[in-house]
Amino acid sequence: MLRSKIAGIGHYVPDWVVSNDDLTKVMDTSDEWIQERTGIRERRYGARHQESTSSMGVAAAKIAMENAGVGPEDIDFVIFATLSPDYYFPGCGVLVQRALKMRDVGALDVRNQCSGFIYGLSVGDQFIRSGMYKNILLIGAEFHSMGLDFSTRGRNVTVIFGDGAGAVVLQPTEDENEGVLSTHLHSDGEYAEKLAFINPGSHGGYHLGTDRFGYEDLEFGGVFLTPKMWEEQDLFPNMEGQAVFKIAVQKFPEVIMEALEANGYGISDLDMLIPHQANLRISQFVQKRLQLRDDQVFNNIQKYGNTTAASVPIALCEAWQEGKVKKGDLVCLAAFGSGFTWGSALLRW
Ligand code: ACO
Repeated sequence: MLRSKIAGIGHYVPDWVVSNDDLTKVMDTSDEWIQERTGIRERRYGARHQESTSSMGVAAAKIAMENAGVGPEDIDFVIFATLSPDYYFPGCGVLVQRALKMRDVGALDVRNQCSGFIYGLSVGDQFIRSGMYKNILLIGAEFHSMGLDFSTRGRNVTVIFGDGAGAVVLQPTEDENEGVLSTHLHSDGEYAEKLAFINPGSHGGYHLGTDRFGYEDLEFGGVFLTPKMWEEQDLFPNMEGQAVFKIAVQKFPEVIMEALEANGYGISDLDMLIPHQANLRISQFVQKRLQLRDDQVFNNIQKYGNTTAASVPIALCEAWQEGKVKKGDLVCLAAFGSGFTWGSALLRW
């Protein structure tokens, strides 16, 4: 049976290390609060005006392609997952196609936030299984620090997020002892605004139930970005942390078990869980709930914060580099985030 395998993996994090103490210089927070609630010690920020989400994605992609033994000319399709694209449109996929001087292959952007990489993996896996493509470049990258509120008002969100990129090259395999065994995707839009970056956007206040039909809107020339949004500084992500935490700790175990059971495995068969690095407390809760040993779960949020679509490939890459994911291992990738969307992938490395 044809399925996809990760033939090469790479990650890139920018050089600028921002500690919790650094953040206390611009907002009312503390190293103690951040570590106690999230486990994060430091995160990386991209170099302003020198790096971008797509440039970080390209850096990770080059390493992934080198590890897979392929070049840009071999890639048949690009999938780019991010919530912090260089431009509102076009997406980052085409910017990667241009930067790497690829053929005029298809480029798809995925907007599923923290589960974007898993969604992208599922899409890529289907294209490989169907025989349509032989080398798919899948990237997850974020430049969060360009869009965060560094005043005390934004502290509950800002301290959590960091920048970085991870990438894989997917190729077909007929070896039943390797590759992506299955992927499982879910969503519940009931919670769409619980973790959201609402402005600018075409909603025009629709989600608030406000009547925005007025001459002044036409005069302004559009309601994507209004003076009101700017005056109220309502231009940043917002999150109801406790609501996110409550559902995340339910959905992570569910979707991990779904992946194992779909393939006839149990918890004891799992060699490594790579959870989306949302919050160390969430990972610890999931580990306890599933009774996983320390050596069955990989966490690196302490160094990078939550890098959303980049977190799973960065963690998988580091786990592989550290020898914690080895050939033949049963590995589960799982993510939960804004939407809410969540998903998992079970693979034999
Ligand atoms: N520094 C200091 N104090 C802070 C900070 C901060 N950075 N942020 C919030 N506080 C304050 C609040 O203002 C509040 O003060 P008050 O009691 O005087 O009103 C107090 O700390 C407690 O705030 P809560 O929001 O109730 O704190 P909580 O214990 O829920 O922790 C946190 C907040 C860490 C966000 C938690 O809810 C959480 O982990 N939620 C999950 C969110 C998450 O992981 N999101 C990312 C994953 S999802 C994804 O990846 C898309």
